[in-house]
Amino acid sequence: MKLQPPKGTRDFYPDEMAWRRFLHDAWRRVSVRHGFEEVDGPIFETLDLYRVKSGDGIVSELFHFTDRGDRELAIRPEFTPTLARMVAAKANALPSPIKWFCTPNLCRAEKPQRGRLREFDQWNIDMLGVEGALADVEVIAVAVDLLAELGVGPELVQVRLSHREVVRQILIALSVAEDKIQDAFTLLDAKAKLPAEVFQEKAKALGLGEEQVARFEIMCGQTFRVGQVDYLRQAAGVDSDLSDLVAIDAMLTDFGLAEWCVYDLGIVRGLAYYTGTVFELHVTTGSERALGGGGRYDKLIELFGGPATPAVGFGMGDVVLTNLLQDQKLIPDEVAPRPDAYVFAMTDAGAAKLPGTVAALRRAGLHTRMSYKATRKMAKLMKDAEACRARFAVILDDGVTQGKAAVKDLAAGEQSEVELAKLSQYLR
Ligand code: HAM
Repeated sequence: MKLQPPKGTRDFYPDEMAWRRFLHDAWRRVSVRHGFEEVDGPIFETLDLYRVKSGDGIVSELFHFTDRGDRELAIRPEFTPTLARMVAAKANALPSPIKWFCTPNLCRAEKPQRGRLREFDQWNIDMLGVEGALADVEVIAVAVDLLAELGVGPELVQVRLSHREVVRQILIALSVAEDKIQDAFTLLDAKAKLPAEVFQEKAKALGLGEEQVARFEIMCGQTFRVGQVDYLRQAAGVDSDLSDLVAIDAMLTDFGLAEWCVYDLGIVRGLAYYTGTVFELHVTTGSERALGGGGRYDKLIELFGGPATPAVGFGMGDVVLTNLLQDQKLIPDEVAPRPDAYVFAMTDAGAAKLPGTVAALRRAGLHTRMSYKATRKMAKLMKDAEACRARFAVILDDGVTQGKAAVKDLAAGEQSEVELAKLSQYLR
């Protein structure tokens, strides 16, 4: 019997795990320097948590089950409902603003394909308690900072921004009924994945005539640079003063993000809880799914029984990001931790000192590996030291009887005699 991992999941052998750890470290470093604190929640929740406000798309992709007490549960497909539940439960005890990050693994029963798996990691950045453009732009700045940290520039990834209220007004002006707006958002979100005829058919079902569908499509196809909000206003043809977008526009420039962002009214996001600004990060070359996406969800905490709390955030998955970095050759060669020392014995006296020497170095906090081989062939053992990318080879020979070891700096190629008692100090 040949056992396979379940469809759409991954095994992380040491090389893959080293990259995963490297990426998580980058997520954590960037989150912390922007003032976010780490949180986490359970990997399964009650099914109802996702039925409330995530939208049909995600609910149809849930892995769900019934426990022995007949409770309906689901593996988390996203973190936002957990976060909203956690904030609602302790709203009065938590500081304001709340700035949280997490890096959970999530499961969605999607059809596995490039950029889409059934289990993936997702970095979440969320800021609650602050209204308006400052918080919206601050979370976008965090996403951009991570990309820059990994060597990705605005020529490779763009943040495509829109605003649900503006899109809603356009839809109303095109005579979509108020109770069909959410369906229209869902359709817009799926547009890129649908054949043109199917899109048009579904648009008609929402009450849009042929001419309106055409206008709708033109609107979705247009993008505007930061600083062009006035053109966007003209193209949208709505009375609204677009006040949120005007404030965001100025703030994006202040944060130095103008070249990273474009307005794209075709972005509405699939999840049902977004209320205002929405954005997605897209690779400029190719048509893969978004690297990440998020927006404002000002009503969700209240819906979960908490006080009215403005909220904005995003999620960025590891799969599309890793594909991009691989394609662009931006994955560093060395992502695994590098040993400080590789210790081996050349004589019986040296071998007797091996365990004690290794234990002392490890106690001193040094990343120490040793040879488990019986061989005393220097060339072979040196090769092993180099293969594990150790900084130093520590050679234990008869010198140990005088309390000494030979230490070779593997980068410089220089060898010195070092007192065993001072070995950890020397290696540091
Ligand atoms: P989302 O757009 O569903 O948003 O997911 C965000 C990102 O997670 C996607 O852009 C993608 O990179 C990654 N992702 C999603 N599904 C998969 C999959 N099946 N395989 C690989 N990667 C995937 C949310 O989840 C929101 N809860 C984000 C958010 C946080 N909004 C506010 N705060």
